[in-house]
Amino acid sequence: MAFDPSIHAVRRQRFLEHLGEAAAVIPAAPLATHHADCEWPFRQDSDFFYLTGFDEPDAVALLLPHRPEGERFVLFVQPKDPAAEVWTGFRWGTEGAVERYGADMAYPLDQLPARLPEFLAGAEAIAFRVGRHPAVEPLVLSTWGRQLDSYSRSGEAAMGLVAPTPILHRLRLRKEPHELERMRQACGISAEAHELARQMTRPGMNEAEVQAAIEAHFRARGARGPAYGSIVAGGDNACVLHYTANTAPLQDGDLLLIDAGCSLEDYYNGDITRTFPVNGCFSGEQRELYALVLEAQEAAVETVQPQGTAEAVHATALRVLVEGLVELGLLAGDPDGIIERGDYRHLYMHRTGHWLGLDVHDVGAYRLGEQPATLEPGMVLTVEPGLYVSDRLAVPEGQPAIEARWKGIGIRIEDDVAVTDEGHEVLTAAALKSVAAMERQAT
Ligand code: GLY
Ligand code: MN
Ligand code: MN
Repeated sequence: MAFDPSIHAVRRQRFLEHLGEAAAVIPAAPLATHHADCEWPFRQDSDFFYLTGFDEPDAVALLLPHRPEGERFVLFVQPKDPAAEVWTGFRWGTEGAVERYGADMAYPLDQLPARLPEFLAGAEAIAFRVGRHPAVEPLVLSTWGRQLDSYSRSGEAAMGLVAPTPILHRLRLRKEPHELERMRQACGISAEAHELARQMTRPGMNEAEVQAAIEAHFRARGARGPAYGSIVAGGDNACVLHYTANTAPLQDGDLLLIDAGCSLEDYYNGDITRTFPVNGCFSGEQRELYALVLEAQEAAVETVQPQGTAEAVHATALRVLVEGLVELGLLAGDPDGIIERGDYRHLYMHRTGHWLGLDVHDVGAYRLGEQPATLEPGMVLTVEPGLYVSDRLAVPEGQPAIEARWKGIGIRIEDDVAVTDEGHEVLTAAALKSVAAMERQAT
């Protein structure tokens, strides 16, 4: 994928327009330690990446609306250093920061303490997200503190710290057309991996083998790898929502729940869950519950449309699930009352979806005070209802005990859905989900 600096320049411009006269300090992510002196593969901070496209650790972007044209985008980066690059690889350095990434000025990161006071001087406020960037925060605070110390002499100091994230996250919530295209690609590769996983699965295999095939496919198709810890959960393991051990043998007669998606080079992600029988054939109980989750999921996807809400998506899925569970005898009573009291939560204990973008659980408000946020074209959310039948949670008073034949069934069906002008687009449609598609002829 060719790097297009204009994408980030337009975003910076839009961000600056909303910032007013506040000067923004946006740090990159540092490398994270795995153990001892071994590090995880680098993962850029999504806000920093959104604004700069710069994909190296230990950098800081300054956006300075109070400065003259040609001094408004400053990058502090790791400088070129052949000796260091022998160990850790190529760096763009200050020259690359200007030439490739469009910085007006660029400096080695170790000059940030000396230069920050000069760049922040004259800004009405400082836009910095406190609590998230421990290496940079003391510097921002001490720079501001010194401005206040000398206010009686200079008459100049930022009047406050403001949060850049509400503005930035409002921008990130609505995806641009090229972002949707990248998300289609991430979802397409993720869907291929799910198809492949279902076709290869046989009783006696280990969850780990299926995980390996999925993640091998991500890498082979050019993705960075999994967007989050892949969940490959046979039988009752599927009732543990964040099961990522993926070490158990797959049993004949069990279902296999797979929640996996890839992350592309520019961090756009897929997030798909599919559930199917390990031996290719649903039992009666598995089929009943699968058909119910599918009905809930499809009904919820239909509610994704402009002027809708994520709240309505959840409410739709929940109503279908609860009514179906009452019919099956897994819940008892009036669906309205069950929903109001939360008497379904031992079977369905999570929400039906989340925003998706550069972060898998992407940024953006779900509510604006009392009002649920309205869906607009360009927003992308997951729709992922499920049912998890196990003994882990107590059955609420007044609800029926669960018969053994239902236990150990965990099902989730998750698609990634973009809001469009006309309604919605299921970005993950290439991953099949009908009852028939989940079954396999005997081989
Ligand atoms: N895979 C994380 C989620 O579905 O939210
Ligand atoms: Mn999800
Ligand atoms: Mn998921």
